[in-house]
Amino acid sequence: LNGFFDKKVLAGKRVLLTAGPTYEAIDTVRGITNISSGKMGYALARACRDAGAEVTLVSGPTALAAPLGVRLLPVQSAGEMYQAVLSEVGRSQVFISVAAVADYRVKNRSEHKIKKGDALPVIELEENPDILATVASLPAAPFCVGFAAESQNLLQFADSKRRKKKVPLLVANLVQQAMGSDVNEVTLLDDAGQHPLPAMAKAEVARAIVAHLARLL
Ligand code: CTP
Ligand code: CA
Repeated sequence: LNGFFDKKVLAGKRVLLTAGPTYEAIDTVRGITNISSGKMGYALARACRDAGAEVTLVSGPTALAAPLGVRLLPVQSAGEMYQAVLSEVGRSQVFISVAAVADYRVKNRSEHKIKKGDALPVIELEENPDILATVASLPAAPFCVGFAAESQNLLQFADSKRRKKKVPLLVANLVQQAMGSDVNEVTLLDDAGQHPLPAMAKAEVARAIVAHLARLL
C-alpha cells in the first residue's frame, strides 16, 4: 500500500468528509450525543491528504487534534453539519460520510438551564435530515462513501443501507469493535460484492479504503 500512495491516487481531487459524533442540545448545558471518537474519520482525512487530495473535514466535537494540512470545519449539531456539508459539497469530487450523525434532535430545547425543581422534563425528538442520502441524491453528486455502524446482522443491514442511500461504496463495521478503538475490522461493500478486510489500525484501514475508492473513481 505504501507504493500505492507514492502514486498520489487522489491528486487533484477535493475530498469532503464528516467525522465524529454530533451534539443535540437539550438545554444550555446538556445534550444528546454518542460514543463516536472521530478516530476513523480523522484517519481517513489523513489518508486522503497523503493520497494527494485537498481535504475538508466537517467534524463534530472530538478530543482529537486537527490533522495537518486538512481544512477543519468544527460543528456541533447534525443541523450544523448538514449546512456545512451542503455549502462545501459543490466543489468536491468525493464525499466520505464517517460521522455518527444523531438521527434525532430535541424539538423542545430549553433556552435556559432546566432546574431540578421544575416539572419532570419530557424530551421531545424530531428527525434530523440524512446528510449522506441528501448528498448522494444531488444531481451532480460526488462519489459517495458511506459507513454503516451496526451492533448485529452487520452485512445484511449494511447491504440494505447501501441500496437505500444509493452509495457506490459502503464501509460496514460493528459498533462493538469500531467505536473508540484504535483498531477496526471492516467489510467494504460495492457493486462487485463484499470485500472483508483484516482487523488493522484505523490508519491502515483508512489507507485500504482510499486505495479501494480510488480504483472505483
Ligand atoms: N448519516 C448521515 N446523516 C444522518 C444519519 C446517518 O449522513 N442523519 C450517514 C452516516 O454518516 C453513515 C451512514 O449515513 O455514513 C449510515 O449511518 P447509520 O447511523 O449507520 O445509519 P442510519 O441510516 O442512520 O440507520 P440506523 O441508525 O437506524 O442504523
Ligand atoms: Ca443512525
